[in-house]
Amino acid sequence: MINIKKHSRKLINALVISAIVCATATSYAESMAMATEIGEGFSPYVDSKGNIKLPDDFRRAMVHLGTWFVPEGDAGGFHDVYAEATAVDGYRSTGKWPDGATIVKELRVSASGNYTTGKGVSHATKEIKQWFVMVKDTKGRFPNNQSWGDGWGWALIKTGDTAKNVSTSYKTDCLGCHVPAQSTDWIYVEGMPTLSPLK
Ligand code: HEC
Repeated sequence: MINIKKHSRKLINALVISAIVCATATSYAESMAMATEIGEGFSPYVDSKGNIKLPDDFRRAMVHLGTWFVPEGDAGGFHDVYAEATAVDGYRSTGKWPDGATIVKELRVSASGNYTTGKGVSHATKEIKQWFVMVKDTKGRFPNNQSWGDGWGWALIKTGDTAKNVSTSYKTDCLGCHVPAQSTDWIYVEGMPTLSPLK
């Protein structure tokens, strides 16, 4: 009896130790995988600290999802929205933005005039006001960065430096205004007809 007891205690000890070793090894492997992912594959527009930049030539490289027209005020003008083709494919098949999806909103000054189509026809000009960029993050990669949270990275970029996010807190600068779109993952999808296929 005594021998068996001793034996089983040893066995339990061995099991406990191997469980601890396993757990440590797994979390190490997980953190290594995450480090690799942030640096190498997560997003070409996000550095290892979570700084977001404007994607180069997104007008050509990305898909135009739709345009808002704001008639007056500071935000007045055209708001053109873009995302990667892979993000659109992911959204069309699952109804959710895939991890790493980038959404860019470009604000342009508008002008209007009389054309052969009608009077007071509005169009976007070359003059940019600013850009908003959001990057989908399903893994909460940057818990200590105030521009990340609620499933997204949030950035405001001005024309002077397209590599700089001038917003320092998405909770202060962005979230309040996006509450009406909370049920659609904070995105105003009704302004994006391209998310539906033609047929
Ligand atoms: C004054 C309110 C307001 C603020 C502040 C605001 N947004 Fe928005 N945002 C909106 C509205 C409303 C839309 C859609 C309609 C429009 O563009 O007029 C929108 C659209 C967007 C879009 C295009 C995708 C979509 O939902 O249509 C992005 C990207 C975006 N916002 C990012 C941001 C980020 C990042 C911040 C903070 C740096 C921010 N917004 C701050 C109100 C706001």
